Amino acid sequence: MGPSLPSQQSNIIEENVHEKINQQFEELITTLPSDKGLIVPTLINYKGFWYPPVSIFKGVLLMQDQFKARSTDIFLCSAPKTGTTWLKALTFATMNRSKFEFATHPLLTTVPHNCMPYLDAYITDHDVEALPSPRLLSSHSAYSLLPKSTRESPDCKIVYICRNPKDVFVSDYFFSMKLRAPMFPPISMEEAFDLFCKGVCMYGPYFEHVLGYWKARLESPEKILFLKYEEMRRDPVKHVKHLAEFLGKPFSAEEEKAGVIEEILKLCSFDKLTSLEVNKTGKVTFVPEMAVGNETFYRKGKVGDSKNHLTPEMIERLDKITEEKLKGTGFAFGE
Ligand code: A3P
Repeated sequence: MGPSLPSQQSNIIEENVHEKINQQFEELITTLPSDKGLIVPTLINYKGFWYPPVSIFKGVLLMQDQFKARSTDIFLCSAPKTGTTWLKALTFATMNRSKFEFATHPLLTTVPHNCMPYLDAYITDHDVEALPSPRLLSSHSAYSLLPKSTRESPDCKIVYICRNPKDVFVSDYFFSMKLRAPMFPPISMEEAFDLFCKGVCMYGPYFEHVLGYWKARLESPEKILFLKYEEMRRDPVKHVKHLAEFLGKPFSAEEEKAGVIEEILKLCSFDKLTSLEVNKTGKVTFVPEMAVGNETFYRKGKVGDSKNHLTPEMIERLDKITEEKLKGTGFAFGE
């Protein structure tokens, strides 16, 4: 359990709500359209987006039914493999910078995912009302599937991170193959690529995920900050400064002079996090059916690694899909 999370599970969602959601869940997982998944063998399509038919999906139903936004809430949203772990670490360190010393910082002993609840899963057996404000929450769900009160609250903030789809696909493939149980038949990179190209991937279609947040950001730029992994890698100081300003915690001139931004970046860097014992061992259990080894969240942390794994034909195909999907949106991925 992370430093900012209550150590005790409590559950104020009433039994009858759980029963109602359980019933809805059971009905939906047998009736919704399905296709192949990489980690779990099947994904189901709920309101346009692909979910594993495990309790994370129940969490999404609960989140929509029960979650009440606070004006101080901060949501970190992302499709998987776009830099969520890094952004969680950066946001946690930025928001809590006056609370913790760098030498004894919780991120030295806690995996970033345990510093911030992943709401889609967390809500299934935790009381989100018990979390102190400002709540730092994360979600992989599409914008249209976030709780209505979060979307409609003019004050609660959303930080979204996206990444070039080729790197997302490759990162997701290797991540998923580590987690796919040996009892399921293997899936080749070619087959996984076909699924990704037709939009079938966890929480995807990827382009629709990105564009949903992009359109929302165009309508409410004061509510949604849109980040690109590649740009953050290129100029992290600029983006962490921007992140702090957006979250209402700008760095003071003294902090800048004292090198606080650089300290945060050092603490959250790929090299630092991967050198820590906590990120080499142990697991994050998001829901009982999904425990992820902490080391699995880190692979290379590079921009453009996909060119080492995709054939020229695959690159051409995904570039073409990207061009078609983004046409007329005014959006471009970072390079
Ligand atoms: P690669 O598989 O390309 O290496 P997510 O956190 O959304 O699951 O994304 C995982 C990707 O972010 C992985 O990419 C991982 O290596 C990279 N990553 C994890 N921690 C990082 C960090 N501190 N800095 C930069 N990239 C990081």
